[in-house]
Amino acid sequence: MLDLILYQPEIPPNTGNIIRLCANTGFRLHLIRPLGFELDDKRLRRAGLDYHEYSRVQVWDSLELCLDELQPARVWALTTKASSRYSDARFAAGDALLFGPETRGLPDDIRQRFQGLRLPMLPESRSLNLSNACAVVVYEAWRQLGFAGAMV
Ligand SMILES: C[S@@+](CC[C@H](N)C(=O)[O-])C[C@H]1O[C@@H](n2cnc3c(N)ncnc32)[C@H](O)[C@@H]1O
Repeated sequence: MLDLILYQPEIPPNTGNIIRLCANTGFRLHLIRPLGFELDDKRLRRAGLDYHEYSRVQVWDSLELCLDELQPARVWALTTKASSRYSDARFAAGDALLFGPETRGLPDDIRQRFQGLRLPMLPESRSLNLSNACAVVVYEAWRQLGFAGAMV
C-alpha cells in the first residue's frame, strides 16, 4: 500500500477526515511535527474516529526521520506550484504522497526535492482544502492499484 504524509498539519478536522480516508483505503498516515493540535483534541475526536482508525497513524519528529524509516520508492509532493498533473502520475506500491500545511503549503526546500504534482484548478481560484486534495489523489492512486483490498 502507499503512505500519506502530512507535513505539519494545522487544522484538526482536516486530519480527522484524512484519518478516516486512510482507514477506508488502507493507506498508512504519517504526521510530521509540529502539529497544530494534540491527537486527543476534541475537534479531532468530533470526526467520530474509532480506536482502530487512530492505530494507523504515526507521528514523527521530522520528515527526515519518517523518510529514513519508510524508504519510499518515490515521494510525490502535492503542491499548487507543480506543473505536472496528478492524473498523469503513475503511482505504485511503496510510493509516498506528501501534502503541505493548510496555511503555508510545503516549504520550497522540501517541495523542490521531490516530483511535484498539482490538481488542476480554474484561474484565480484558491487552493483546495487539504482533506479534499488528499481524497482526490488517494483515490486516484488506489484506482491505479486496482482498488487493492476493497470489498467490491
Ligand atoms: C490549503 S493547501 C495550502 C495552501 C497554501 N497557501 C499554498 O499555496 O500552498 C494545503 C495543501 O493541500 C494540497 N493542495 C491543495 N490544493 C492543491 C492543488 N491544487 N494541487 C496540489 N496540491 C494541492 C497541497 O499539498 C497543499 O500544501
